[in-house]
Amino acid sequence: MSDQRESPPPEPVIVVGAGYVGLVTAAGLAELGHAVWVVDVEDERIQMLRDGRVPITEPGLTEAFQKHCEALHFETKLSDAIRASGARLVFVAVGTPTTRRDDSGGADLEFVDCVVQDLLCESGELALVMKSTVPPGTGNAIRENPAFREKDFAYVSCPEFLMEGEALKGVSNPDRVVIGRQEGCWAAAAVRDIHLALKPVPTIFETDIASAEMIKVVSNVMLAMRVSCANEVANVSEEVGADSSDVMYGVGLDARIGPEFLRPGAGFGGSCFAKDVKSFRAVAVAHDVTVHLPSAVLDSNEAQTERIVAKLQARIGSLETVPVAVLGLAFKPGTDDVRESPALRLATALRSAGAVVQGFDPDPGVRTKVVRHSRLAEPRDWLADREVYPTAQDAMTGVRACVVVTGWSDFASIDWRAAAQAMTGNLVLDCPGILDASRVSAAGLAYEGVGRASPGISQGVLGVG
Ligand code: UDX
Ligand code: UDX
Repeated sequence: MSDQRESPPPEPVIVVGAGYVGLVTAAGLAELGHAVWVVDVEDERIQMLRDGRVPITEPGLTEAFQKHCEALHFETKLSDAIRASGARLVFVAVGTPTTRRDDSGGADLEFVDCVVQDLLCESGELALVMKSTVPPGTGNAIRENPAFREKDFAYVSCPEFLMEGEALKGVSNPDRVVIGRQEGCWAAAAVRDIHLALKPVPTIFETDIASAEMIKVVSNVMLAMRVSCANEVANVSEEVGADSSDVMYGVGLDARIGPEFLRPGAGFGGSCFAKDVKSFRAVAVAHDVTVHLPSAVLDSNEAQTERIVAKLQARIGSLETVPVAVLGLAFKPGTDDVRESPALRLATALRSAGAVVQGFDPDPGVRTKVVRHSRLAEPRDWLADREVYPTAQDAMTGVRACVVVTGWSDFASIDWRAAAQAMTGNLVLDCPGILDASRVSAAGLAYEGVGRASPGISQGVLGVG
């Protein structure tokens, strides 16, 4: 929907949640000329931002914050931000993790509730613009909250579709902008005006709040389903001697299917896919609707970790006391985010099989993070100090097999001859399919991918490594 009238001058806005989404959203709004007040409960995070440092790794974000340093302000309290900015629009990008309070798999809205409570202490023409992924039905429940109605605040659902590692592109040039609102809502018009200032003007789809929330969750369910399908196609391709990259290329030529998100690997990770698939399932269960796909997608994803372990066992035999290099620890390349990382899932499975994990990630922040978490959280889900190595070469020294999990482009330039000298075995398992197999083989190593002919895994036929 496009509008011919000139967009009004950029108004000041507030973004609550200085995380992967909030910070990128703030940078995008500043780029459009808005003064932006970023609010976060973590003093340390706000202090870092005030010192000109960005607390996450996202390509281009530090440069964007430096460019707009005059327009970006940082507060730990929403009330202070409202007073200082005079803003009407409060974008919310706080975490909505899978709840730990029960096994429903539903989203934990505790942090969203905190922001709503903070907003209810304010008065005047204010709107809550929800960027965080919330279960369908959340926005209407907030709007119908008597205290919210009494304040006559507006509510707009404006879900984010940002991909980490390329999030700034997603904010400046989105595929589409979805706005969920009540008909005639002033805040929806203001949010639309903000996005009309983007060049090129994106597709702006306006719908009701619950539909906007469904669009967000279902988008991730669909994307996760494609990845799990690609993984299972890859596994079958290995057994029948097909090449799944050709298979999925040919499948993707169908205009109804398309080529994206059909790359197999070690399984999907990240803070959103599993969370949103579980959330969708939880909403269905809460409404007594039987759904099968979410569980199938999640089970398939979990099984992909075991499949990678089985591939190693088929070539090496028992992994008991066997050192294995795990290259790439972030959940995908281009980010320092390790949430739901497939590499860490694999490390846990390898340890359970008795293997000795030697991990590496090109991002030093990732290496530090996984060790820090192992001290703070459940050690088995992270890597201990002794399991994290400063270089790929060090991580590959003495190992029987090397598994590339996260497809960092850095790994394409590994010196495989040096690696072959340092390794005690010769297996290189390239889960994301980013290596040049001929360079690996030329070094005297045995290259194996995911989805390329390697029959016998399912029957557990033990090769000779
Ligand atoms: C979050 C949601 O997890 C995701 O579902 C949604 O799509 C976008 O927002 P992300 O930005 O990755 O994604 O969250 P995270 O990196 O955890 O950042 C959330 C920030 O909010 C943290 O810095 C946290 O300190 C802050 N926060 C949390 C608040 O400021 N107030 C709170 O009450 C709770
Ligand atoms: C995802 C959605 O893409 C985004 O729209 C939403 O806003 C947040 O969740 P993100 O989690 O940042 O974004 O990463 P994405 O690029 O979608 O990858 C998610 C996981 O799937 C990663 O572990 C990635 O390695 C994996 N993946 C992706 C595959 O294994 N194969 C693919 O073809 C694509």
